[in-house]
Amino acid sequence: MKFPSSLPPLRLALAASGFAAAVLVTSIVANPKPPVPALNNGAEYVGEAICIACHQPQNTQFTHTLHANVFRLNPKNEQEKISCEACHGPGSNHLKDPVSPSNRSSLVGFTREWGTPVALQTAMCQSCHAGAGQTFWDGSVHATNNLSCSDCHNPMAKLSSGGLLKKPSINETCYTCHQQQRAEFAKRSHMPLLEGKMTCVDCHNPHGSTTKGMLKADSINETCYSCHAEKRGPYLWEHAPVRDNCLSCHNPHGSNHDKLLNVARPFLCQQCHGNAQGHQSTLFNAGGAIGGGGAPSTRIFGRSCQNCHSQVHGSNHPGGARLQR
Ligand code: HEC
Ligand code: HEC
Ligand code: HEC
Ligand code: HEC
Ligand code: HEC
Ligand code: HEC
Ligand code: HEC
Ligand code: HEC
Ligand code: HEC
Ligand code: HEC
Repeated sequence: MKFPSSLPPLRLALAASGFAAAVLVTSIVANPKPPVPALNNGAEYVGEAICIACHQPQNTQFTHTLHANVFRLNPKNEQEKISCEACHGPGSNHLKDPVSPSNRSSLVGFTREWGTPVALQTAMCQSCHAGAGQTFWDGSVHATNNLSCSDCHNPMAKLSSGGLLKKPSINETCYTCHQQQRAEFAKRSHMPLLEGKMTCVDCHNPHGSTTKGMLKADSINETCYSCHAEKRGPYLWEHAPVRDNCLSCHNPHGSNHDKLLNVARPFLCQQCHGNAQGHQSTLFNAGGAIGGGGAPSTRIFGRSCQNCHSQVHGSNHPGGARLQR
């Protein structure tokens, strides 16, 4: 790829490719940083006027996007000024034979059908978006699963209110692949996503992060504390699993048990507390196994163990060692 430092007006005879008029290109490029490793065959930048001559419908859509506004009205540098070709790469070879399948490598296409390697697609976007929220893209679960930026973004049209997404909302964009999570959020007890109070990116960074699960915060608990600050404590009497990992008891997306619990009570507590000598493992009065005739233990009514151990996330009462007050 050549990124010319200055170009004389360039005349392109496009009649051969069905484009009748010769087009005069004057606008070009002082000394931008080349966005990607050599594309091919020394293609050159031709300027968006030429692209638009054939791609009028795409341009009409594109005009409503943030990129179009920034690149055309307020470009920060020479790379932004080149508009279409900032993403699709220098276009002169594409013009020579736009329809031939064998000429597809002359242009960076972002649709799967076009066949440009995903690494090259993302490199184009990363030439401007490699820092900030995209810092951890390389090596992220999405990158290693060969996702392209264009699996979630469509910069050619304004389909979402923000973020240039493929679908009208963040959640819909994620659901195109994550059907299981869609099902979790549809359960009876769920994080208020469907209610519009939050989206996947309140907890996850889809561009990767340093935390497992692409979480935005440094750990699962830090993620939860960002909204449920009171659960951070400090408590005089901590309940060890709460400090350790909220997901010992909760599903982060949704559950059919009350309060997003993984397991119904009292079984939730009995997964860890099973001292046969004490009352912890008791479900029924003596002789009261299911069908055995006895009345069920009071310890499983209502909120079950929490009828007495109400402060399950921790207690600040001097006498709260057993999480009762
Ligand atoms: C002479 C007309 C013409 C010009 C000028 C032209 N294109 Fe194209 N372009 C086409 C045609 C025709 C196709 C469809 C090829 C196909 O579907 O196989 C196409 C396809 C594309 C695609 C499709 C990739 C995909 O994923 O499907 C992109 C992107 C594209 N052009 C960008 C550009 C850019 C950027 C410029 C300016 C540098 C440009 N074109 C200039 C005619 C043109
Ligand atoms: C910010 C990067 C970016 C810029 C700038 C950009 N494109 Fe695209 N373009 C894309 C992506 C990503 C896709 C794939 C969209 C999809 O998934 O359908 C695409 C798809 C296309 C396609 C093929 C799919 C379709 O919609 O028919 C054409 C043609 C095209 N672009 C032309 C242009 C032209 C012409 C311009 C300048 C007016 C332009 N692009 C500017 C990123 C860009
Ligand atoms: C030439 C530089 C450049 C390239 C290449 C580029 N962008 Fe951008 N992008 C920008 C600028 C400038 C903005 C405006 C916001 C800003 O300043 O960060 C922006 C904004 C965005 C936004 C935020 C939109 C919003 O509504 O907040 C998304 C998403 C985005 N770009 C995705 C992409 C994707 C995907 C690609 C590759 C297909 C791409 N960009 C290629 C420069 C670029
Ligand atoms: C798995 C889906 C997904 C993929 C893949 C993806 N993004 Fe995003 N991106 C999002 C979502 C969701 C947002 C948030 C949109 C919002 O807040 O409205 C976003 C926001 C952005 C923004 C604007 C806000 C910010 O974080 O700076 C930019 C720029 C951006 N993405 C660039 C990229 C680039 C570049 C790639 C490829 C390297 C990429 N994205 C890949 C889903 C994705
Ligand atoms: C094009 C398909 C696709 C889209 C769209 C998509 N993902 Fe993914 N995502 C994957 C694949 C593939 C994996 C890895 C395999 C798996 O865990 O299912 C993955 C994994 C994940 C993981 C697990 C990471 C880990 O460490 O195990 C999270 C979290 C995630 N995606 C969040 C999101 C969010 C949030 C969005 C929307 C912004 C989104 N994804 C959109 C395909 C997608
Ligand atoms: C309230 C915070 C939160 C929200 C909102 C959220 N997640 Fe998660 N997600 C998590 C946590 C925490 C994990 C567990 C990470 C771990 O196991 O290390 C997780 C795990 C995942 C995983 C890995 C597989 C799994 O289920 O454990 C995927 C995929 C995922 N989330 C996708 C999504 C999608 C898609 C959305 C939006 C529809 C979403 N998440 C919304 C917190 C959240
Ligand atoms: C972006 C903010 C946010 C984050 C992050 C968050 N939550 Fe929530 N959480 C909420 C909101 C809002 C509600 C709904 C509260 C309501 O409707 O009263 C909620 C509800 C809950 C509920 C159910 C409460 C009920 O009354 O049914 C539980 C349990 C819960 N969150 C646990 C967690 C866990 C565990 C995490 C970490 C994986 C987490 N939350 C992360 C905002 C958040
Ligand atoms: C030992 C199991 C357990 C762990 C670990 C746990 N919780 Fe809970 N959580 C519960 C139970 C049981 C309830 C239901 C309380 C009720 O019915 O009064 C609950 C309720 C909640 C609620 C809704 C009611 C309220 O108290 O606000 C939120 C929010 C919540 N938990 C957040 C968290 C967060 C954040 C963490 C991690 C810091 C966490 N939980 C760790 C068992 C647990
Ligand atoms: C993931 C395992 C786990 C789960 C689930 C769990 N706990 Fe605990 N719990 C612990 C651990 C570990 C301790 C600390 C034991 C120690 O210090 O010897 C503890 C301590 C306690 C204590 C104080 C006991 C003492 O010896 O000081 C009470 C009371 C308690 N848990 C009640 C509950 C109740 C009620 C539930 C269900 C809502 C529950 N626990 C769920 C692991 C768990
Ligand atoms: C009727 C009230 C009540 C109910 C219901 C109850 N507990 Fe307790 N639990 C207590 C009292 C009181 C203590 C304190 C005993 C002490 O301080 O010596 C205690 C102590 C504990 C301890 C500390 C170790 C021990 O055995 O002394 C654990 C663990 C515990 N309970 C777990 C549970 C679990 C799990 C459940 C539900 C299956 C449960 N409790 C239901 C009243 C109750």
